[in-house]
Amino acid sequence: MSLSFENKVAVVTGAGNGLGRSHALLLGSRGAKVVVNDLGGSGAGEGSDATVAETVVAEIKAAGGDAVANGDSVTDGDKIIQCALDTFGGVDIVVNNAGILRDKSLHKMSDSDWDMVYEVHLHGAFKVSRAAFTHMREKGFGRFVMTTSAAGIYGNFGQANYSACKLALHGLSQTIAIEGRAKGIASNTIAPIAASRLMGTVMDENAMAQLSPEAVSPLVAWLCHADCDATGQLFEVGAGWISRVRWERSLGEYFADGFGPDDVAAAWDKINDFTDATRPRHTGDTMKAIATNPKRKK
Ligand SMILES: NC(=O)c1ccc[n+]([C@@H]2O[C@H](COP(=O)([O-])OP(=O)(O)OC[C@H]3O[C@@H](n4cnc5c(N)ncnc54)[C@H](O)[C@@H]3O)[C@@H](O)[C@H]2O)c1
Repeated sequence: MSLSFENKVAVVTGAGNGLGRSHALLLGSRGAKVVVNDLGGSGAGEGSDATVAETVVAEIKAAGGDAVANGDSVTDGDKIIQCALDTFGGVDIVVNNAGILRDKSLHKMSDSDWDMVYEVHLHGAFKVSRAAFTHMREKGFGRFVMTTSAAGIYGNFGQANYSACKLALHGLSQTIAIEGRAKGIASNTIAPIAASRLMGTVMDENAMAQLSPEAVSPLVAWLCHADCDATGQLFEVGAGWISRVRWERSLGEYFADGFGPDDVAAAWDKINDFTDATRPRHTGDTMKAIATNPKRKK
């Protein structure tokens, strides 16, 4: 079996380096026409360099593929999608991957550390996705991949800005999955781990040597393929390992009307007991749990 992306147009943001470059090369080698977007700034989001995206386009073309360079910031997402429409006549796949880091512990984090990380990761992904979604709806097909992080799923010291935006990307993905379902549009989230210039700031050289971006891209490509019907899901991926992550909810405790903090304290063990835990999948599962409270007056 050889999964093909012939006749598909893929936009990969932040594709000039690291993971994005690897995703773009793989999709390009499988026949996708690729918009290689990259602002070309520093790992902290300063400056720009048009040659960063152009270099990856040259690599894709040298391997026999088709690609165009785009140097806009993801905060101008509509321009990136317009580039796909002008060059290749459509957009089928969006990999929201562009990212920067401005790590500081919370009490030292400036407004600009927060704002810059928000702008690139969350606002940028929103701008690119909204512009693409409009065209995908008309066409009846689309695939999104959002890039979160273990720091987003679990939190990480010194990354309040990054972890907040990263988990929010999964929220965005889950809603795109719901809004896009009837129009053939799927959206999933990956939490990758790979050696890159961003990780160089938080990992030592030994650990970096184990992790190649090329071990993340096969999952991205599969999630972008028409044959893959996964949507709204979250995966951890890296170093030859791929795993799905989902929510788990304890059975909890029900309280009668007028309950107070002492009742909560008394039921604390039961609230935290994951025996026979359930796996809620949508907001309806929350409403169902609330509606079945046996201790409330009808
Ligand atoms: N490397 C990892 O282990 C790891 C772990 C978790 C999450 N991630 C996420 O994966 C993604 C890729 O990271 P990477 O490790 O390959 O880093 P990287 O620095 O090698 O690549 C990120 C790219 O995004 C580009 N970029 C930054 N701001 C941009 C903007 N405003 N518009 C367009 N492009 C912009 C950069 O120029 C860079 O080329 C990021 O979202 C990162 O948060 C990476």
